[in-house]
Amino acid sequence: MKKFLIAPSILASSFSNLKDVFKKLEGAEVDLIHIDVMDGHFVPNITVGPFFIEEVKKITKIPLDVHLMIENPEKYYEKFIKNGASWVIIHYEAVIHHEKIMKDIREKGAKNGIAINPSTPTSFLEEILPYADMVLVMGVNPGFSGQKIIPETIKKIGKLNDIRKKLKYNFKIGFDGGLNLENAKDILKEGCDILMIGSGIFNAEDILLRIKKFKEIEV
Ligand code: DX5
Ligand code: ZN
Repeated sequence: MKKFLIAPSILASSFSNLKDVFKKLEGAEVDLIHIDVMDGHFVPNITVGPFFIEEVKKITKIPLDVHLMIENPEKYYEKFIKNGASWVIIHYEAVIHHEKIMKDIREKGAKNGIAINPSTPTSFLEEILPYADMVLVMGVNPGFSGQKIIPETIKKIGKLNDIRKKLKYNFKIGFDGGLNLENAKDILKEGCDILMIGSGIFNAEDILLRIKKFKEIEV
């Protein structure tokens, strides 16, 4: 059976009682918490900044993966790492000097991830995959939780998995956007290692039970 990680995307949860949400997520033994940072430029929505990571660190020990959907992420990632991000995911489309930033994120003490929008082909990543700790395949155009998956994005996982095997790379493959109990198995079968799940978890009456159902998926 394939082992995979679960990273609830808390943008889809209620922010009015985050302490309770985190307590539940700890009870469910999730592997990471996915935090969506949006700037109103790279995506048409605005969420949280580095201060939020610092606050969240005070209420949970679960490692944080911080998804930067912002322009010029090179100006900000250091602050996110200082404030406690274990993973920093930047968008391929938002930077020019990819491998420089990817190496520097590692040097500053976090793992790096490179996210690709639905319209960005996996072939664009060829030269930078040796430096990647994670490739995050977006299943939706980023900006909001609760969108429907764009099914064509799923096959990008398989393409990355083939390259990874062929060239013996070690990066993880994550998938973010539109994940639910119906499509998760197909996504895992393609070779995905980390499921970033927003409304697929938080629209459940009982989020513990929903997470358990995701964990029980056999691949
Ligand atoms: C989309 C975000 C996702 C999103 C996931 O811009 O990066 O992390 O919150 O939410 P769902 O799973 O509801 O699509
Ligand atoms: Zn995200």
